[in-house]
Amino acid sequence: MDAEPATTLDVRPLTDRFGVEVRGIDLATCGPEMHRAVADVFHRHGILVVRDQNLTPEQQMEFSRAFGTPATNQRLEYTYPGIPEIYVISNKTKDGKKIGDVDAGQGWHTDGSYLAEPTSCTMLYAIEVPPEGSDTLMADLVAAWNELPPERQAQLEGLQIQHSWKALMELRGLPVDPRDDTVPDVIHPMIRSHPKDGRKALWVSTGTTRGIVGMPNPEGLNLLEELVAFVTQDRFVFRHKWQVGDVLIWDNRCTLHTGTKFDTTKYTRLVHRTWMKGDRPV
Ligand SMILES: [Fe+2]
Repeated sequence: MDAEPATTLDVRPLTDRFGVEVRGIDLATCGPEMHRAVADVFHRHGILVVRDQNLTPEQQMEFSRAFGTPATNQRLEYTYPGIPEIYVISNKTKDGKKIGDVDAGQGWHTDGSYLAEPTSCTMLYAIEVPPEGSDTLMADLVAAWNELPPERQAQLEGLQIQHSWKALMELRGLPVDPRDDTVPDVIHPMIRSHPKDGRKALWVSTGTTRGIVGMPNPEGLNLLEELVAFVTQDRFVFRHKWQVGDVLIWDNRCTLHTGTKFDTTKYTRLVHRTWMKGDRPV
């Protein structure tokens, strides 16, 4: 029988409800076995933070693989040169050209919910951070679901949401050819079970949604807005304040997140993002 991996991880809660910080580990040198041990902890906790890291893009890719298969980004203009799985989030410029996406991820959402197989988890690694602003907020959709009374849970169980990449493009004011069928609308369950342990999440979002299947609008969209307002109340939300060297990973199957603004005229931010391929929500 194989021995259990010798994990001596120092794991501490981020809040009294969800999320953990792993301390005393150097992700650049600890090796794939420790990477897998960190990923194993992550799958139970929704969010994981490791501070004070110093990772090359290749080392971030290696750590990312412990969480799944890193996906190539759709917008290649902001990917790291030679590594299309790393997406650059930054307001910096080089030779007069923007090196990254300034405004990624504003508004409560889960990454890739408009895909048939949405992004399972997302990793951000901070190389430069502004002294104020740019916090990342994450909401615990499992705690939100568990807090609903059984009657309300029974009303919501079985509902399905129509997610739409085109709706997101429209929201951002970006042109979409209506005949473009590269990312067709998809239907996903509102109550999503986590593939690792079956815990249920109230998997709602706005911005990328057209409504609820079988429910006319505005009733359907209004219900989604009401539920997003419910799950993003302070008691379900963790606010990550960035430091240089932070690695933050969230689980899109059981959390919502949003970025926040910072003063781009005063400060610079440089973050490398990877996201991992997911599977069909159930
Ligand atoms: Fe996002």
